[in-house]
Amino acid sequence: MKFLAQDAERMTMVETEQVNVPAIVEELTGQMPTEEPFYVMNIDDIVRKHQNWIEKMPRVVPHYAVKCNDNEVVCATLAALGTGFDCASKGEIAKILALGVNPDRIIFANPMKPASHLRYANANNVKSMTFDSDSELLKIKKICPDAQLVLRIRCEAENARCPLGKKFGCDPVEEAPRLIKIARGLGLELVGISFHVGSGCADFPIYYKAISYARDLFDYGRSVGYEFNLLDIGGGFLGDSGTSIDEVAMIVNAALDKFFPDKSVRVISEPGRYYVASAFTLVSNVQSKRVCLNASNGAIDRMMYYLNDGVYASFNCILYDHQIPKPKLIGQQAGKLYDSTIWGPTCDALDQLIETIQLPELEVDDWVVFENMGAYTIPVATPFNGFPLPKIFCYISKGTLEILKSVYPLTEEILFDKTGSGLVITYENPVCA
Ligand SMILES: Cc1ncc(COP(=O)(O)O)c(C=O)c1O
Repeated sequence: MKFLAQDAERMTMVETEQVNVPAIVEELTGQMPTEEPFYVMNIDDIVRKHQNWIEKMPRVVPHYAVKCNDNEVVCATLAALGTGFDCASKGEIAKILALGVNPDRIIFANPMKPASHLRYANANNVKSMTFDSDSELLKIKKICPDAQLVLRIRCEAENARCPLGKKFGCDPVEEAPRLIKIARGLGLELVGISFHVGSGCADFPIYYKAISYARDLFDYGRSVGYEFNLLDIGGGFLGDSGTSIDEVAMIVNAALDKFFPDKSVRVISEPGRYYVASAFTLVSNVQSKRVCLNASNGAIDRMMYYLNDGVYASFNCILYDHQIPKPKLIGQQAGKLYDSTIWGPTCDALDQLIETIQLPELEVDDWVVFENMGAYTIPVATPFNGFPLPKIFCYISKGTLEILKSVYPLTEEILFDKTGSGLVITYENPVCA
């Protein structure tokens, strides 16, 4: 095993024969101080997800939604693999451009863009962008008149973890034709249609419906003089371990065959959680404990455990992404089960991870593992109350590192490892046009 790199802050990269996360967690928990939580990031998992996407939806070019997890290694890995990027702001665009990604691989997919961010996109040749209102069209006309516009329509899944339709997307029947006409009147270049069915979508047929709406609007566009060539099917794809994109891919592929048989239409998507959810495992620790006794008979009513990560850090995903954390214990599986409450470390009573769960008795310093923690966790986390954010240990297998090196010019130099001869891999000066 080699330590590949360590940034000044909180990230370490390690090359290993095979990325076996449970074994890595076991090894690290034997070495780490119990005070601070940490992540094990599995780069192989991200590469596998990409290979799976290409196999299942070969016509759809993924543009990773940076908002979901803007970790540098995630973005650099995906840049190396050749995905595009969905950026929502100047900051996200800057981050992706700094990796050497060509601006035409970026879609500025926030329908409501601050003027200064639009100016930045324009100055940096990021021309592809979404909109869903006439006032945004006027702003774009002024600041970025040669933008390649993508009209975002609304087509909401009935079952999505985070619906988006209240905030974004115009009605495909009532509003979209009007906006297409306004864009035409303003002399703007409108190149296609996008939608987002809702994040964490379990209603797969909705993609078929949305793609059929897009077809109608391609036809309408032609009737007013446009020749659209871009279809953006957004995000929403599940990414936890045990989930699959097989069924949704069948539906998307069937819809593309029916409504867009012409292969000259470029089809892209904006997956976020699909790529990263299962690649991150959080390892936290019981820092404190309270046994609540029944006042009348002295029996144990409930256990309360205080972990070293909470809703102000990684578990913000409970509040913002409606995730339900599922703790896994290391070792201590047996014994009597108790009603238990799991809290985060801060002084706020809102900082509760799980109100009631049946667990065997835990002790201070026991480790508690949470899988599938890669989506909508890290970018939102804060060190509120002075609790440090988890360190991230990135693991990559030799085979995957070779794949990435072959597609991405990595620079190598000796930095350190525990035995004295480490290999540093940095993602500097990549050329990934
Ligand atoms: C415009 C846009 N694209 C893509 C995504 C990523 O969605 P998901 O993580 O469900 O794939 C989001 C998430 O909110 C979004 O707002």
